Amino acid sequence: MAVERTLLVVKPDGVVRRLIGEVVSRVERKGLKIVAMKMMRLTREKAEEFYSVHRDKPFFGELVEFITSGPVVAMVVEGDEAVNVVRLMIGATDGRKAAPGTIRGDFSLDIMKNIVHASDSPESFQREFKVLFSESDVVEW
Ligand code: PPS
Repeated sequence: MAVERTLLVVKPDGVVRRLIGEVVSRVERKGLKIVAMKMMRLTREKAEEFYSVHRDKPFFGELVEFITSGPVVAMVVEGDEAVNVVRLMIGATDGRKAAPGTIRGDFSLDIMKNIVHASDSPESFQREFKVLFSESDVVEW
């Protein structure tokens, strides 16, 4: 089994709805390890960089607007096959289609206000990590 890192971000709707603890608790109960975590308000520039793969999508502007509308909590999560495990834990993008028991399935009814973002591949993690963190933010334990 490969120990991986992935990025998990509580989006502004998750913060406003007081779900930071719920998300952190699920990650910890699963046995994953949080090795970096911070609350931040993304600038427009950072948000556009973070979502750059969606630049040509019709919803890009709305998504950037939303992610900059309030604070987010970003964390680096480590564990066996963490990328895939966390994707399974968050569920499908659209909260209406996400399975019950997943974070989005339990707390969201929307495709954009869907509580959390998580990297979809190790390559995405590498790119996204650089937008939000620096290596010195990571605490090995
Ligand atoms: S795609 O097209 O498969 O790459 O998109 P997906 O991975 O499902 O979603 C990527 C992020 O875009 C947001 N999203 C939307 N925002 C607003 N309107 C619409 N229609 C929409 N569709 C997708 C979605 O919340 C994803 O955000 P993150 O933060 O990555 O979860």
